[in-house]
Amino acid sequence: MKPRIIAVAVLCAATSIAFAQSMVKPTGNAPQFPKAYKELAKQTKPPSNNWLLDANDDTERFRRLQVVMGGTDIPMWEIGYRYEELYVAIQKNNWEMGIYHWDKLRDRMNFSGMKRPARTQNIEGMFLESGVWQSMRDALKSKSPERMRSEFQTVREVCMACHVAENLGFLNDSSVFKRTESFKEHKKSD
Ligand code: HEC
Repeated sequence: MKPRIIAVAVLCAATSIAFAQSMVKPTGNAPQFPKAYKELAKQTKPPSNNWLLDANDDTERFRRLQVVMGGTDIPMWEIGYRYEELYVAIQKNNWEMGIYHWDKLRDRMNFSGMKRPARTQNIEGMFLESGVWQSMRDALKSKSPERMRSEFQTVREVCMACHVAENLGFLNDSSVFKRTESFKEHKKSD
């Protein structure tokens, strides 16, 4: 292929990657960078939906990704969801679903430590390596509804203890902890 054809092909591929997704009707408002992010003004290209591809260099691209991927809050949001689905799994005696969420929850805890290394000590010391994570997993494997229910309560307490240890005790009023406070009484026929 001639260089010009290659260039056009690459451009088309890049454009289709950037726009191969649903689009709502544009307002016609002029694109502009948010004033809060001064760094963006250094970009040579004008603001566009290609917020990564149009950055001046890869360092800036990675910096933008790092900003967007946030810190502990995004994994914790997901951890809250998976923790509650674990509660549902235990309620329904669906230990396979429980293990599914419990293993992913461990991965998200490790993501948190990668992004915010000052949290790793409590993530590992209180949760992943203290026996809490393993005991919950063993309880799920045992398929014993009583064991799962009792381990879940320990997990709940440790989640909240870590928030206190990280000076975020106010988060323990999050609705997820209220919803998972207790289990419906377990009947053998459940
Ligand atoms: C390191 C100890 C630690 C452990 C263990 C921990 N958390 Fe967190 N959690 C945090 C920190 C730190 C934040 C605040 C994140 C931030 O600074 O943005 C948080 C935030 C949260 C939030 C609020 C997220 C948001 O912004 O919407 C929820 C919900 C949450 N955690 C649930 C849980 C649950 C459920 C567990 C147990 C399965 C758990 N956490 C275990 C440290 C921990």
